[in-house]
Amino acid sequence: MGFFSKLFGKNEEVNQQQSGGKEMLKIGIILGSTREGRVSPQVGEWVKGIADQRGDAAYEIIDIAEFKLPLLGEAGGDASGAAAWSQRVASCDGFVFIVSEYNHSISGALKNALDYLRDEWNNKAAGIVSYGSVGGARAAEHLRGILGEVSIADVRVHPALSLFTDFENGNVFKPKDVQTQSVNDMLDQVIAWSGALKTIR
Ligand SMILES: Cc1cc2nc3c(=O)[nH]c(=O)nc-3n(C[C@H](O)[C@H](O)[C@H](O)COP(=O)(O)O)c2cc1C
Repeated sequence: MGFFSKLFGKNEEVNQQQSGGKEMLKIGIILGSTREGRVSPQVGEWVKGIADQRGDAAYEIIDIAEFKLPLLGEAGGDASGAAAWSQRVASCDGFVFIVSEYNHSISGALKNALDYLRDEWNNKAAGIVSYGSVGGARAAEHLRGILGEVSIADVRVHPALSLFTDFENGNVFKPKDVQTQSVNDMLDQVIAWSGALKTIR
């Protein structure tokens, strides 16, 4: 195992090999819900499947639930997952946020996870894939305001999935074909901006 893979893990070595020595961009696909029975993983895996076919970056799912973050600063909370959360986010050049709409905003879990970090987010790009009764549009617009504050450049193209037409019974994900193109258009912008912003970090 080489020097970089010791520092950052095996994936980095594979990424470098795939790109002929030049390190590939790494894009984290962040699952924005920790709710038991959530549909978020179905959406995240679908985005990753589309992304992996492009061959332009190393895409990985980052599941907030894995880190078991208590509310930030909560007395007696076990924040032992915070260091790993910080490392995962820091290792990325850009993000795709998988966003569900909760009371016209993002989930409390995603807001809390965003609040935990600052430098790790700064000067990176992100796309938003949202879902809800009106495509999660209100949650996505709230998220854009938050991303501005943590210096993440959020791209314009925004795949918005309807709980009525892209899901069966609101919980089995069956996206319309047209949504695939939207994800690719969003990723085109995320890759371009992630590469550009890497030069100023
Ligand atoms: C507390 C709560 C509030 C919700 N509020 C909204 C809402 O304002 N707009 C909307 O479109 N869907 C709303 N929903 C429906 C969620 O978007 C839907 O359940 C979605 O599947 C949640 O994502 P998840 O399964 O990945 O957690 C709400 C769901 C919950 C549990």
